[in-house]
Parts: sequence; C-alpha cells; structure tokens
Amino acid sequence: MKANMQVSKNFQISKIEDRLYGSFIEHMGRAVYEGIYEPTHPTADDNGFRNDVKELVKELNIPLVRYPGGNFLSGYNWEDGIGPRENRPKRLDLAWRTIETNEVGMHEFFDWSKEVNAEVNMAVNLGTRGVDDARRIVEYCNFPGGTELSDLRRQNGHEEPFAIKTWCLGNEMDGPWQIGQKAAVDYGKLAAQAGKAMKLVDDSIELVLCGSSSSEMPTFASWEAEVLDEAYEYVDYLSLHRYYGNQENDLENYLAKSIDMDNFIKSVVAVCDYVKAKKKSNKTINLSFDEWNVWYHSNEQDSKNEPWQIAPPLLEDIYNFEDALLIGCLLITLMKNSDRVKIACLAQLVNVIAPIMTEKDGRTWRQTIFYPFMQASLYGRGIALTPNIQVDSYNSRDFDNVPYLESIAVLNEEENEVVIFAVNRSKDDAIDFECDFYDISLGDVIDFSEMAGFDIKAINTSAEEVVKPSPSEEIRVENNVVSAKLKPLSWNVIRVA
Ligand code: AHR
Repeated sequence: MKANMQVSKNFQISKIEDRLYGSFIEHMGRAVYEGIYEPTHPTADDNGFRNDVKELVKELNIPLVRYPGGNFLSGYNWEDGIGPRENRPKRLDLAWRTIETNEVGMHEFFDWSKEVNAEVNMAVNLGTRGVDDARRIVEYCNFPGGTELSDLRRQNGHEEPFAIKTWCLGNEMDGPWQIGQKAAVDYGKLAAQAGKAMKLVDDSIELVLCGSSSSEMPTFASWEAEVLDEAYEYVDYLSLHRYYGNQENDLENYLAKSIDMDNFIKSVVAVCDYVKAKKKSNKTINLSFDEWNVWYHSNEQDSKNEPWQIAPPLLEDIYNFEDALLIGCLLITLMKNSDRVKIACLAQLVNVIAPIMTEKDGRTWRQTIFYPFMQASLYGRGIALTPNIQVDSYNSRDFDNVPYLESIAVLNEEENEVVIFAVNRSKDDAIDFECDFYDISLGDVIDFSEMAGFDIKAINTSAEEVVKPSPSEEIRVENNVVSAKLKPLSWNVIRVA
C-alpha cells in the first residue's frame, strides 16, 4: 500500500505546548505507596521516594503531573497531609474504599515533582468542600508569607511559595460515583465562585473547569454548555476525560478509537465556542485532556477487591502491543488538535493504568505504552504541521473511512529537526510512505525508530521488556522527500535534520 503526506511550514496547526505530555498521580492503589514512595526500598532517598522510579519518570520527560486525584480528590482534606508525619491521620478513602495513611502529602509530592523536573497541576476538592477551602489552599501554596496559612507552609519547611500555576476545579463532578456529585448548574456556580476567590489570592494561576467524565455520559455536551455558562469568566480550560479498551477483541475497531477522541475534542471545542459566541466574549477557552489512556484489562480483577486495605493493587492494567499502537494514534490525535488542546495528562504514571510498574522491594519496568509516550514527549515538541494525507481506508464496527495511516509531522526549529510520527493500522500490508516537505530543507536522517513485528497481545514484564522500539534502515531522504517502509501494525518515529 502507498501513502503520501504533504506538509509545509506555512500550514501550521499550532505550537505544541509542553504540557501536552503531562501525566497524573492519584492517591490510589499503588501509585503513591509502593509506587513513587517506598521508604524501605533499597533505592529510596532520604524522603522515602524510590530513585529507580524517578529515573524512569525522567526518561518520560514529563512537564506536568496532576495531583492528588481523581476520584480520591472529592473526599480529600489537604490539611491531613501537611505537618509532622506522626500527627497525620489515617482516613477512609471513600472513592476507592481504601485507607489513606497521609504519609505523603503536598510538601513531599512537590519536592518529588521538582526532582523529576515536572510542575504540579494541583486539584481542589469541590466534592465535599467549597469556596473557603479553595481560597485557603491557594493561599497556603502560593502566597509568599505573613498570613496564617502562608506562614504555616513556611513552618512546615517551604519558605518559598510552591507557585503552582495550574489548578483543577474538582474532578468528574458529573459522575454518579463522585463524592459530592453535582448538577451542572450547581457545579458551574460553585466553580465560578471558587475560581474567583482563588484568582483573588493569586491572579497568575490558571483554572481548569470539569467537563464531562467521558463523551459517553448522558449529560455530555449539555454539561459543558451549562458549566461554561456559569463559570466562563473565571476559567481558562475545560477538561476532557476518556479511556479506551478492546473489550470486543476487534483490532481494526480498537485502533480506530482515536477517531472517537478526535470527535470528542472537536465537539468540546464547538461547545466552548458556542458559549463564547453567546456571551459575545473575546476570551477563548482551551482544553485540558487531563485523563486519557487505555483502561480495561484490570476491571475484572478490581471487581474482586476487598475494601479498606492500604495501597492495594488497583487498576493495574498490563498493556500489550496493540495498546501501544492505540496510544500512538491517540498521541498523534492530541498533536493534531494542539491548537486547542493545551494540556493533556496520561492517566496515570506509576502502577495505576501506568507506563511504569514497580515491584514491592523489587524492580521497576516499562510497559509497552511507555515507549510511544516517551518518544512523543521527547520529540513531539515544536510546531505541529497540518498533515495532508492520501491513503486507503477501511470500515470497522464503529467507524467508517478509517485511514490505514495515522500521521503528523512536527517542526522543531530549536533542535533544527523535523519529526514524523506514524502508525500503520493495517495488519496485512506494509505502507510505502512518502512525505514531501516542500519548503523545508532536509538533511540527513537522524533516526528511524519502529515498534513492529510483535504479537498484538505481547506484553512486557519485570523480567523482560520485549515490546520496545528498534532502529530501522528502510528510509531515504531525497529532494526534501522522506521515503520509508512502515511495517504492518507499526508505530514509527522518523527524525530528520
Ligand atoms: O484515573 C482513574 C480514575 O478515572 C480517576 O480517579 C477518575 O477521575 C476517573 O474516573
């Protein structure tokens, strides 16, 4: 099969924001305890955080980590996690029906995030709490000093403010499972007033309003319109959450699910712009896709979980090769929508639906999805160029005209390179791919990396990381045209100087 792509530096989607490659750590399962934090582990630092995990997080080059939830957030009192550890209470976490020890709180997490070179995207509890708490946490974190709360932070060891820029106004407030679930108008009014108070404390912060928990929610789209109607003036981003799975064991349909993500993004953009027009506003609301991933492998296991344990294994999906291919398609979709998606968080980072896994007292290992995410995060920085693609397509159970090739090129002027990301969705045919860069002078190939040739159900384990990229030689560059062979069912990253 042949596929052609044409790009030009004059046809740009947008500069890709670094925060597109964010991730997420929730106080749940083994994400924090036995994940990033395990004081008895041989690699633990003086604060109890595993250095081996930090090294893998750094490999992912993550600029932003959302914290502390998730559903956990809606019953969380942040004050439980500050001050001397011996005074911190153990609490019931009603979201996941576990026990939270509060050994790790915002100070420890903030210090950890600095070590892995990431900013914190903090979230405020609008499930059980409200405006007063929202303004208090911003004062504690961001006010320099001289007030009770800012001085308490200093007493607790942080003289300088945390200076947290990005704040989520609650989590999935439309969900019946959410502690303190609200009707759209009620949530919108609360978020507006909480956001107003937070920005009065620190007007440099940016606020993310909760969109729907998924495009499949019965209230999807009207929820977005109603909450924006109430809170438009005070917020900067609207959130999207979406998880995918191959429950039907239908590969063609599974790999097409990035089209659902694309439709979801475009629908939310349309609602944001509808409210903008209705309000005759000059302000544009952008999107924070702050939970996205594959999540389904662990559902059955989790349904058998005993309640009220401390850090039990939860949502420990073991990813296979087909998941890595879909993650590649989803990453390309985010880049293709980088004009409006300014923040995105792969949910989550360690052990819980995660690219990084840990063994208690043992090793860390990289799941299959680690690699496309890492390569996108390392090389998908710069300007996303509009992809003009000619390729055959197929119909699947839920989608028509699915192109066999999913691809985008990114121009990184700082590094003086262009990078092509491409997924071949065909299980039978290689793609003879040509990308014409017209007005961009190309030099040599820096690297052509492919993930291909694995059984679609192949997984990595702590003993062996089988599914990972390897170099390919099947590429040439001539007259500003890149020609490459994209193997059947492959994730490809082509870097050209
Ligand atoms: O990431 C796991 C859970 O998925 C989060 O806690 C919640 O926000 C979503 O439903």
